Amino acid sequence: MPVDVLIPETDLHDRVRELGREVARDYAGKPLTIVAVLTGSLIALADLIRAVDVPHRIGLVHASSYRGASTTSSTLVINEALAPDVADRDVLLLDDILDTGQTLAALVDHLAVRGARSVKTAVLLRKIGRQTTPIEPDYCGFTIPDAFVVGYGLDYDDDYRHLPFVGILKD
Ligand code: XMP
Repeated sequence: MPVDVLIPETDLHDRVRELGREVARDYAGKPLTIVAVLTGSLIALADLIRAVDVPHRIGLVHASSYRGASTTSSTLVINEALAPDVADRDVLLLDDILDTGQTLAALVDHLAVRGARSVKTAVLLRKIGRQTTPIEPDYCGFTIPDAFVVGYGLDYDDDYRHLPFVGILKD
């Protein structure tokens, strides 16, 4: 399927490096763990941490949402096997995209319950006009229109993650 470039590679790199510098400034001297939500935020994680020039750890979390056949609400299932140890850590939760906000809000609660000292959030992208759960990301790369996007880690049916830019999937 054709993909229209929405955010070019150079803009992504520049903005992610800028966020990394902000994170480094805000977390200097703190026990920071950056926890990335699999799989979509892997590329953002790899670029971000190389710009966070203070000591920190990384962790990964996997969450999938399942929608019941007879309901519009969905349940988020968090894979406990991967869960990083965040006790007494200042956690920065990184996700690829803030859509309805359900995933990020549920993971913030989950990490707090697991003993994190603080939990803040960073998203590469934030879709306009889709949010149903009130959560304000502490760091946000780009605000984008309500379209399905792929590339730079984001997928459609597990394809397109390797694209170096963020694009809108046509059709
Ligand atoms: P919520 O609604 O919980 O969803 O904020 C966040 C998760 O939904 C996925 N998502 C997308 N994935 N292109 C994608 O590749 C999109 O346009 C898109 N919109 C939402 C994504 O997994 C994200 O973590």
